[in-house]
Amino acid sequence: MTLLYTSDPARGQIWRDIFAKEAADIGFVAPPEAYDPAAIRYLAAWSPPADLIASLPNLEVLFSIGAGVDQFDMASLPPHIQVVRMIEPGIVAGMVEYATMAVLALHRDLIPYRAAQAEQRWAPIKLVPAEQRRVGVMGLGQLGKAVLGALRPFGFALSGWSRSPHAVEGVTCHSGREGLGTFLAGCDILLCLLPLTPDTRGILSRDLLSRLPEGAMLINAARGGHLVAEDLLALLDQGHLSAAMLDVTDPEPLPAAHPFWRHPRILLTPHVASMTRADSAARALIANIHRHQAGEPMDGGVARGRGY
Ligand code: NAP
Ligand code: GLV
Repeated sequence: MTLLYTSDPARGQIWRDIFAKEAADIGFVAPPEAYDPAAIRYLAAWSPPADLIASLPNLEVLFSIGAGVDQFDMASLPPHIQVVRMIEPGIVAGMVEYATMAVLALHRDLIPYRAAQAEQRWAPIKLVPAEQRRVGVMGLGQLGKAVLGALRPFGFALSGWSRSPHAVEGVTCHSGREGLGTFLAGCDILLCLLPLTPDTRGILSRDLLSRLPEGAMLINAARGGHLVAEDLLALLDQGHLSAAMLDVTDPEPLPAAHPFWRHPRILLTPHVASMTRADSAARALIANIHRHQAGEPMDGGVARGRGY
């Protein structure tokens, strides 16, 4: 059984070494190395072209290199191929750090202080105690739950929203369209950690963002496709929203003329909230291939119909 890897070569070299030392039963090949297409049962890729998939007659599982699978063209994938997203501790740790930084940056007024410094204005803003700051997370999956766990010790009033009901200690949980209005009305800082699916594309729209309290702040660390850029700009300019921190945009990289670059109340990072860590991801992949070999469910299996 062989895994074909078609992503970043530096990570590929680390994976090759770990597979050789820790999973000699799994063959590992990466272009430009030659391989027999019929031997490939597993493909690990970010965005594989349809002709590559079509050239692998015995492919059984497509593993995403990252947590998201929205980059795959699910409709063109043969139905028997299982899709698995990356669940590994490095991705979770990165997102926990980023989300904590972003929530604290907005909570502690980093955006107005950045503007004040540029104008050499010494302008203290009254502190809002964490217990009076309501932080809501959209998406209670691997990342949303870990982020909420990390935010808890600060004392924020935490809530979360997901498709199906969840119970998370110390977090007021809401679900479904019926729970959305109450959730939004209680978020001073809204953090999006949803997967990008047909249901969630464009969800951060004027309609949804208008239901946040006056002066609320937005963090998007999920996908640029969740956010309707002109709706965010309009709500910032009208003062309904007071600030946004965006790690993801549509498109990426953001074109030079895009208004986000120069907006005084938007803080941008270039899709770096978290990154797949080569060593822990290789081990997560090996464990999943062994689960598949044993006929057990894999960690991160995607329900193709719902897109995550
Ligand atoms: P996950 O474990 O699959 O969790 C997804 C969560 O979103 C679940 O709680 C799910 O609800 C909820 N959800 C999905 N569709 C929904 C809908 N229509 N309405 C309400 N809730 C919905 O995903 P994850 O591992 O936490 O990752 C989330 C996303 O983060 C990834 O897909 C990726 O796009 C993004 N990400 C970004 C970066 C970055 O660097 N910026 C890094 C890694 C990941 P249920 O629990 O009810 O199923
Ligand atoms: C990064 O954005 C990922 O999906 O892992």
